[in-house]
Amino acid sequence: MYEFRGATLQEAVHQALRYPALSTKKLAKVAAKFDFTARLRMGNVLFVGEGNLSFALTISGKPRVPTSSILATVYEAEEDLTDTAYDNARKLLKLGCSVKTGVDATRLSDTIGKRQFRTIIFQFPNVASRDPRYGQNPNHVLVARFLKSARNHLKPGGLVIVSTVDSPFYEGAFKMDDAARKAGFAAPDIYTFDPREYPGYTHQNTANEESAADGHTAFATFVFSG
Ligand SMILES: C[S@@+](CC[C@H](N)C(=O)[O-])C[C@H]1O[C@@H](n2cnc3c(N)ncnc32)[C@H](O)[C@@H]1O
Repeated sequence: MYEFRGATLQEAVHQALRYPALSTKKLAKVAAKFDFTARLRMGNVLFVGEGNLSFALTISGKPRVPTSSILATVYEAEEDLTDTAYDNARKLLKLGCSVKTGVDATRLSDTIGKRQFRTIIFQFPNVASRDPRYGQNPNHVLVARFLKSARNHLKPGGLVIVSTVDSPFYEGAFKMDDAARKAGFAAPDIYTFDPREYPGYTHQNTANEESAADGHTAFATFVFSG
């Protein structure tokens, strides 16, 4: 069957009729979901900022995922992990994945050395503070710095993947195109993200923050190619 970026032609045409004014890029977003499982099956995946590790666990547990090439990381130190995160870390290790705590996504070389990956994933990046940094939204600064750092750890042809809430407010906060440019990537491709497709993925809040996903129904996955 003919496919338009993962959606059937019929779905793409249906979306085009519903959203006639959308650009090709936006059309791709409404029409297609990024296939995380297919990407994991290619191996060599780094997860950063995983919170309770439930996203990494949910996909790593799928059939035909080469778990020994997967490294799931969290920002927090081991002693600060929640019981759920600890439990999920144990399950990931049992599957054959590696798990690392205390990994700052903006300074990857400090903790993972020179390792390179085919795919680097940061789901719902979020800092606890709303205070501007260098006149910029701190979440924009986090993503721009993460992209810059991730670039040094990508194999040729690798992808960096980031999901966020899909709303004008979040678009304004992250300014993904701008972050991509600062880190030397082209503007990202945008897909839709549906957490319900990942049963077991329980979104964890940043400390003292409302959940980035709570109360929202639309999510987007940004795919940066290196
Ligand atoms: C909204 S939570 C999302 C957690 C998880 N990725 C998920 O989807 O459930 C945001 C996460 O970003 C992490 N984070 C914030 N700054 C970070 C940094 N510099 N490096 C890595 N992770 C960071 C926090 O520790 C927190 O777990």
